[in-house]
Amino acid sequence: MNLPTVSAPVRCVVVVIAMEEEARPFIEKHGLKKHQEPGPFVSGSPMVAYSGQINSCTDDNQSHLRVHLVWNGRDQKYKVNNVATTAAAVATYASIAAFHPDLVVSAGTAGGFGELGGNIGDVYASTKCVYHNRRIPEGETGDLEEYGFGHYRSPPISALASAIGIKQGVVSTSDSLECTASDLQLMRSEGAVVKEMEAAACAWVCQSLRVPFIALKSITDIVDAGRPTEKEFYANLHSASSALQGKLTHMLQLLGQQPLSRW
Ligand code: ADE
Repeated sequence: MNLPTVSAPVRCVVVVIAMEEEARPFIEKHGLKKHQEPGPFVSGSPMVAYSGQINSCTDDNQSHLRVHLVWNGRDQKYKVNNVATTAAAVATYASIAAFHPDLVVSAGTAGGFGELGGNIGDVYASTKCVYHNRRIPEGETGDLEEYGFGHYRSPPISALASAIGIKQGVVSTSDSLECTASDLQLMRSEGAVVKEMEAAACAWVCQSLRVPFIALKSITDIVDAGRPTEKEFYANLHSASSALQGKLTHMLQLLGQQPLSRW
């Protein structure tokens, strides 16, 4: 399998985000401009694109990074944010076709695990993305079970993660906010520290198209604390989205125009 190129300078980044509430702080912080009709996507697509620049802040480099934030938009019928994997995969594919980025980031909020040191407001970068609800028996052809889990590796960026003060670990995806006992067992066996609803779908598209990919997720709720997820999620959505904005900005400032392999 050909791996994504991490030795090219990062000049253009696509940030894919599911919820408008998660995207708003970053759009406002950087004054990103909304694309007007006709937008960059096929007419009728729900995604909404915003573009702008971020100044790099490395010692030896004063340059700009082109940033396209793509919000998955709202469902035509239910008017809610297009969360979960179907919209995430479509948005990622369409954004790569439209903007040809050097890096895609799936940014958003997520559940953390208290038993693994997770706290509300922590921000994590992915080392790997997996699915915890795609249970497919091996079959006669061999690798269907592992295909189901996904195992999409992110480029190694531990120096970058230390520089911006974020944690790193396995990010696990399903289409549900809650999880079953077997979902939990699978997340534990994969060593997942983050549970969310989009990253693995974006990662699969990026792996297929050989575009480097990182998930960056801010914790709104603790999966193993025995509290109702939805209530905790909405109580912390605003503060977690603000923390996400800060870390995403710092990450892009440090990345500007340098290859990912530098980290
Ligand atoms: N997004 C925020 N919290 C989540 C959780 N616990 N599970 C899935 N997605 C989430």
